[in-house]
Amino acid sequence: MKYVFGNWKMYLNYEETVSLANTLAGATLPESDLTLAVFPLSIATKPVVDLFANTKFGVGSQNVSWTPKGAYTGAVSALIYSELGCKYALVGHSERRHVFGETDEAVRRKIEACLQNGLTPVVCIGETKAERDSGGREERLIAQIESAFAGLNMNGNEIIVAYEPVWAIGTGDACDVEEAAKVHAFVGAQIEKTIGRSLPILYGGSVNAKNVLSYLSEDNIAGVLVGNASAKADTFVPLIDAASEISK
Ligand code: 13P
Repeated sequence: MKYVFGNWKMYLNYEETVSLANTLAGATLPESDLTLAVFPLSIATKPVVDLFANTKFGVGSQNVSWTPKGAYTGAVSALIYSELGCKYALVGHSERRHVFGETDEAVRRKIEACLQNGLTPVVCIGETKAERDSGGREERLIAQIESAFAGLNMNGNEIIVAYEPVWAIGTGDACDVEEAAKVHAFVGAQIEKTIGRSLPILYGGSVNAKNVLSYLSEDNIAGVLVGNASAKADTFVPLIDAASEISK
């Protein structure tokens, strides 16, 4: 089983989001044991959950607030997404970290909030181009893994990790499969060292219908987190078709 997750970011407005979910819900997809999910615009969560009821698609939030309920202007909590029918939540996406200044500490609190409210966190980590070029990739990944997971009470809950090198996101400059597999081995070993168990690790960054199967063919790449190519039916459906080859 491999994961194919689509992060729709803020590419689509409310109507466009509902329309894409409607198209995907009605699409004929090949038989496969892929685990599929999409992460829609927050305000469209409810209709997307409803449209995907009785389909293969799960739904997740793109972010959560770690605060539960109350006087938190502009926040939407893990509890509220869970009540709406979300199964997953992206936590610490690079755009949250780099555009909105989210800290490692905030990421940790969000993971805890997801676990307390029955959401599977998809914890995003990855180095910038400068960190990669200066040989600081490992150090950055270790810092992100330790701050996210050290001493965390997982209570047997599911957690997914997504390795998304910042330089590969939205650039068309996807990480070579061999390089991604090497980094996944490193990340996997660090996670084992930190929490004493392994977690599924997805790759994200310029994944498309052409390259998806090569990532999924690597044993230590548990799936893909797709941005741009997931936000249109005419690129996402072929990507899922191509990914389905992995279970044949
Ligand atoms: P792209 O697939 O557009 O590079 O985005 C990746 C991503 O950020 C998924 O979360």
